[in-house]
Amino acid sequence: MKILVTGGAGFIGGNFVHYMVNKYPEDTIINLDLLTYAGNLETLKPVEDKPNYRFVKGDIADRKFIFELFEKERPDVVINFAAESHVDRSISDPESFVRTNVLGTTTLMDAAREFKVKRYHQVSTDEVYGDLPLDRPDLFFTEETPLHTSSPYSSSKAAADLFVLAYHRTYGLPVTISRCSNNYGPYHFPEKLIPLIISRALANEELPVYGKGENIRDWLHVKDHCSAIDLIVRKGRVGEVYNVGGHNERTNLEVVKTILKVLDKPESLIRFVTDRPGHDMRYAIDPTKIENELGWKPEYNFDTGIVQTIEWYLNNREWWEHILSGEYTKYFEEMYADRLDS
Ligand SMILES: NC(=O)c1ccc[n+]([C@@H]2O[C@H](COP(=O)([O-])OP(=O)(O)OC[C@H]3O[C@@H](n4cnc5c(N)ncnc54)[C@H](O)[C@@H]3O)[C@@H](O)[C@H]2O)c1
Repeated sequence: MKILVTGGAGFIGGNFVHYMVNKYPEDTIINLDLLTYAGNLETLKPVEDKPNYRFVKGDIADRKFIFELFEKERPDVVINFAAESHVDRSISDPESFVRTNVLGTTTLMDAAREFKVKRYHQVSTDEVYGDLPLDRPDLFFTEETPLHTSSPYSSSKAAADLFVLAYHRTYGLPVTISRCSNNYGPYHFPEKLIPLIISRALANEELPVYGKGENIRDWLHVKDHCSAIDLIVRKGRVGEVYNVGGHNERTNLEVVKTILKVLDKPESLIRFVTDRPGHDMRYAIDPTKIENELGWKPEYNFDTGIVQTIEWYLNNREWWEHILSGEYTKYFEEMYADRLDS
């Protein structure tokens, strides 16, 4: 099988490329990525010489390029991870999110129709369901929960999901969608909460936490997300949405304190900063459908997974230090400089 993975130089896509290249040596994995600020080819170093792996640089929203690529490569399966993915960036520049997340998705699906791919899989997010109140721990997102987005990011992902389902109904494109909770693990870009806290705590720098740190996220190890997508693509029913989550709900403050404890750093590093506008309170996935229908089960729980993840960042300092020494530093200043003063 020839599998086109888009966004494979990013966090989850990169982990997925590792997973697939190693698990299926008989398949060919083509990694298509534009290498935006979030794309990092150093993530692919461990697989770049494997005979079943290839990298192609390009934009999923560039129609001419995408059609030429499909004509040349004729992929059997397309798995779309490529996205603008950071909520804070979507608040300052929504248009780039519409372009990549919506137009990029329809462009890929138009090519998938034309060249008759056997499966188009869209990697979506639980953020399309909006948020849940903190005082209702009994509520969870199911696949039937109405879409109710909060940020330009989640709105662009929800719009893409609606196009994916419409392409199935209108054109018969064989699609599946996965909606996953927050991921953590190796190769996570250091603007996101967990790697941000690890890298700054190691440098004894202040740790910015939005609001009072009460927001709850449902954390899933990235390898469990990879195994879920692999299963959905191979065994999931066409036209269906599958929620992916592992019942690992933690407040942001709990996550930060856990990291400080493992690193033996003081809680006095924590600095509460002005909350993000429209900040979602709680996400919590009900994964019953994927568990019952496809037999998926996560391997990691948060308490052990976070310790392994911290160890990975300690053992792979070069990977994230290369990022910190680049454009990221400027970005960090822009996003947090004024908030740290509040
Ligand atoms: N990170 C999470 O916790 C999480 C949870 C659920 C779902 N998701 C979804 O999973 C997917 C991957 O997320 P991530 O955290 O790995 O994102 P990421 O930002 O780390 O990676 C995105 C990748 O897409 C590439 N890209 C961006 N625009 C592109 C374009 N126009 N053409 C080709 N490539 C482009 C970037 O270079 C980067 O390598 C996204 O669709 C996201 O919505 C993420």
